[in-house]
Amino acid sequence: MDNNKRPDTMERITTPELAQKFIDEQVQAVREQVKDGKVLLALSGGVDSSVVAALLIKAIGQNLVCVHVNHGFLRKGEPEQVIQVFQKELGANLIYVDAVDRFLDKVAGVADPEQKRHIIGEEFIRVFDEEAAKLKDIRFLGQGTIYPDILESEKGIKAHHNVGGLPEEMNMELVEPVKLLYKDEVRVVGKQLGLPENMVERQPFPGPGLAVRTPGAITRDRLEAVRESDAILREEFANAGLAGKVWQYFTIVPDFKTTGIVDGKRSFAWPAVIRAVNTRDAMTATIEEIPYDVLHKITERITHEVPGVNRVLMDLTPKPTGTIEWE
Ligand code: XMP
Repeated sequence: MDNNKRPDTMERITTPELAQKFIDEQVQAVREQVKDGKVLLALSGGVDSSVVAALLIKAIGQNLVCVHVNHGFLRKGEPEQVIQVFQKELGANLIYVDAVDRFLDKVAGVADPEQKRHIIGEEFIRVFDEEAAKLKDIRFLGQGTIYPDILESEKGIKAHHNVGGLPEEMNMELVEPVKLLYKDEVRVVGKQLGLPENMVERQPFPGPGLAVRTPGAITRDRLEAVRESDAILREEFANAGLAGKVWQYFTIVPDFKTTGIVDGKRSFAWPAVIRAVNTRDAMTATIEEIPYDVLHKITERITHEVPGVNRVLMDLTPKPTGTIEWE
């Protein structure tokens, strides 16, 4: 039997009862696979790795070793939430790696988007490898591979980082308990495992994170402007009831400045750009109409609360011609 093929008879997981049945089966399967062995898991805090972490904690407890690498490009509050939920609430064996300075040094002065992505991806593997090397006797690698990753890899659409890559180099056996699930099913399972709503319903977030929303050469202050403006945007979307309705929304802070007036004085500062799109499969995307009162509120808050920003713009470009991210 092909272990990477979802059986036609497999029921779609849509209810808490079906999720519980799936969890019970997987807990059993993982225990049989790893016995008293240890499993290493890169826990980003995204939906898939979080659900796998919660599932593996249930199955093997302290024999799961989670590594959370903070590369500095995470959204506001994310590393703190990972520590709170997994270490404090679920009692996970969690190694938190503060690699912020290291990543920022690596990308300093690098303006080319592809080069930036490449550097961040490579450095991530290096940091993770270093952590793995410090641990002894770990034969298993947990991964948040989901079914669309397998399908896309098979069709050659993209070599998903969850399918091939890390494990080959590391020579470890994979533990992939949600690999036959679609995203919506992973969310139902995550809720049943007791993960917080905002973690399970999280919008997609690129691996290189806020780095691709700080176009050009990244500086700390502009990166902070992206992080703060993104936090305000998310808060106001939630307040306006838009959080579940818009597929992806975020801000970009481009590398140019314009003149303005702040507190009666001339300012020369960046704009923050709002991007809010809807899509089915991220291959094409349409622009969401956001009510003007919400946009005014966001503009007011960003220009007053985010250091270095004196203007707010909105990106009205569908995909194509724009991609969703700016880099
Ligand atoms: P684009 O910009 O290509 O984005 O229209 C399509 C979707 O993919 C997300 N994205 C990424 N996700 N790693 C990821 O896991 C990445 O490197 C990456 N780049 C873009 C993007 O946020 C959007 O949802």
